[in-house]
Amino acid sequence: MRTKSIVQKRLADCNNISDLRELAKRNLPWPVFNYLDGGADDELSLGRNTDAFNDYELLPTQLSDVSTIDMATTVLGQKIEWPVFLAPTGASRLFHHEAEPAVVRAAHKFGTIYSLSTLGTTTIEAVAAISSGPKMYQVYIFKDRGITKDFVTRCKEQKYDALCLTVDTPVAGNRERDLVTGFGMPPKLNLKSVLSYARHFPWTIRAILQPGFDMVNVTSSPGASNEISDGVMAYVNSQFDRSISWKDVEWLASQWDGPLVIKGIQTVGDAKKAVDAGATAVMLSNHGGRQLETAPAPVDCIAPIAAALGDRLEIICDGGVRRGTHVIKALSLGATACSIGRGYLFGLAAGGQPGVERALGLLRSEVERSMALLGCNSVQKLGEKYIQRR
Ligand code: FNR
Ligand code: LAC
Repeated sequence: MRTKSIVQKRLADCNNISDLRELAKRNLPWPVFNYLDGGADDELSLGRNTDAFNDYELLPTQLSDVSTIDMATTVLGQKIEWPVFLAPTGASRLFHHEAEPAVVRAAHKFGTIYSLSTLGTTTIEAVAAISSGPKMYQVYIFKDRGITKDFVTRCKEQKYDALCLTVDTPVAGNRERDLVTGFGMPPKLNLKSVLSYARHFPWTIRAILQPGFDMVNVTSSPGASNEISDGVMAYVNSQFDRSISWKDVEWLASQWDGPLVIKGIQTVGDAKKAVDAGATAVMLSNHGGRQLETAPAPVDCIAPIAAALGDRLEIICDGGVRRGTHVIKALSLGATACSIGRGYLFGLAAGGQPGVERALGLLRSEVERSMALLGCNSVQKLGEKYIQRR
């Protein structure tokens, strides 16, 4: 009870996503926090993803009756209460023992979509049993197509609302923080990491006694390789098919006759190919700066893609979103919605389900307040008149 109230108090003291990040840093062993927080190479894309929002300014239209703000929108065939949803992220159990179920419950309490990753630590079926709220499943195309096909069948059976194919991960990105910390399965220990695991004794003892870090969707799929003992990134390199092309997207679209999102698109050319291959939406994303270094910030990709294809597909801005104004800028530039990864994972690490709720609550109230200050009473009305390049 006491621990619970300490967690609640610490969460209440967090005034923004950055404060939740600090709390996550404090709660997690050093290697685990850096896996969550880090990016590829020199982390230029990681930094730009958020910084690029500062290259835009919001233009208020004063005295515009903002007594009520309508934040609802429709994306991927789902009506959501506000224009932000949760991007797929692997291995949530690493960040809090409540893992994916905590995130699913928080997402649905906040009226938005939860996305489950193929590399998650909770099954497609378990997530469906927890909540009937809107759900998306994120797949990769494995060398063994039977595994990907099996995921599609299971998602249909469990009534997932949308499918997401991530295309920016033919190989794992170069996460140098993980080399320094020795993050992996099993971890490569060094003095600093041993001390950190020791200092985070509750996390560490749980990891030893009830690990549960398996990629259960993969391991529960017939024919899938169980060779995951070298960790997530080694698994990516050994199992994902690097030879895939747009033909495989057409194949996936034909297997799944529902909303299909291609995640990892950054150019007009690729967005067009996505539509032609049967996608209904694109997630403009560089995987949170974790894959191709110096790939552009998603916010900068919105306007050209919206101008070329905005009437043919939904555009989701994925990466760097930490503030309500970021969401408003993305929508003003032509995005349908934004998705967040670290934003909710920091909350999860900061305090389980209440931590995710704190993250979503802060972000949602920032969107609502900033809409009022902008003088715009509906996210549907956002557009170019509200934004300028600095
Ligand atoms: C990810 N991301 C990711 N994407 C994906 O398609 N499948 C996955 O399994 C994962 N796993 C994953 C783990 C962790 C720890 C992070 C931080 C990210 C990328 C994720 O979906 C999203 O694109 C980024 O997180 C967006 O950037 P922000 O919001 O973190 O800045
Ligand atoms: C990552 C993988 C899991 O970004 O997608 O860490």
